[in-house]
Amino acid sequence: MASDLKGLILSGGAGTRLRPITHTSAKQLVPVGNKPVLFFGIEALVDAGVTEIGIVIAPETGEEIREAVGSGDAFGAKVTWIEQERPGGLAHAVLTAREFIGSDPFVMYLGDNLLRDGIVDLVETFRRTDPDALVLLTEVDDPTSYGVAELAGERIVRLVEKPKEPVSNLALVGVYLFTSSIFEAADRLEPSPRGELEITEAIQGLIESGLRVEHEVVGGWWKDTGMLDDMLEANRLVLDEAETDIAGKVEESEVEGNVVLGEGSRLVRSKIVGPVVIGPDCLIEDSSVGPYSSIGPSVTVRDSAVSDSIILEGCRLEGVRPGLEGSLIGRNVEVEGNNGAGGSLKVMLGDNSRVELS
Ligand code: TTP
Repeated sequence: MASDLKGLILSGGAGTRLRPITHTSAKQLVPVGNKPVLFFGIEALVDAGVTEIGIVIAPETGEEIREAVGSGDAFGAKVTWIEQERPGGLAHAVLTAREFIGSDPFVMYLGDNLLRDGIVDLVETFRRTDPDALVLLTEVDDPTSYGVAELAGERIVRLVEKPKEPVSNLALVGVYLFTSSIFEAADRLEPSPRGELEITEAIQGLIESGLRVEHEVVGGWWKDTGMLDDMLEANRLVLDEAETDIAGKVEESEVEGNVVLGEGSRLVRSKIVGPVVIGPDCLIEDSSVGPYSSIGPSVTVRDSAVSDSIILEGCRLEGVRPGLEGSLIGRNVEVEGNNGAGGSLKVMLGDNSRVELS
């Protein structure tokens, strides 16, 4: 097992693209299929035998993440917390973790990324081929939004961050294997036009120094959950693998497809179309839920319809018809509809909220 290989999960950042959720909470803790995105990353590292894990956190959201993860024992990991005082970029986060990493090779994993097939194969390739860095690539439809790799045959010759005129459709996935040579490359960086130290530029620096940067192309799906639509897609992908497990009570209700119903939850005169995960202590009454919905603990859904959505803990939906679709609702939110009777909308919304009537 790869015991000398450390793990570094980046879980700081500003999360501006997921506001308003990230005003009050860390995006890495948004659950998909009722499990925080970050936990998938920790599990992926542990599955690959990487148990000594540093987690980079921001001052604003770090405490919440520490509380959720705990010591790491629950995952079979030993966690070290690394505070990054400002979101200075992925390469800045790497430099912040220098003392923790020391001279060991390490896997860097972006805390808001999900990889279906994990990283066991990638870690194995790194150990076998012993390069200076190993990056993971995937084909994307819109390379202008990603760090993109230009290949000559099997070799990466150039990496460009968010290119205006992309040279390929192979984007960098948020998992990287580095040796400590990345620190010298990051040391030489100047802030990019968006004011960050870019990891893409640091890897480009390795290539220019004549070091060996290898790559692999991802087999299964990969999702960066930094924006709403991606978060919902990640939720669908994870729910597609859910297996039925009914611990709560089903009363005069219909359940179709794969459905998880938590302990202490009740379905009353409702229809659930899986895949759906409903946490513990929920009440779903005279409603329809699904497909593709994750409902957190202690949520009440009454006279409402919900599909393709993530609803966090403690929410209450009443009379929301024709229904919520493609939505992400933070904790303890109350949504009162008028059962589809039309009329005006009365709301109290925080900064940067978004409402769409369709
Ligand atoms: P990004 O999604 O690239 O950046 P961000 O979290 O600041 O979000 P936004 O662009 O919407 O403002 O970050 C990828 C991951 O890396 C994410 O889990 C946050 C983390 N990160 C850090 O830990 N430190 C940093 O300085 C940055 C930029 C990101």
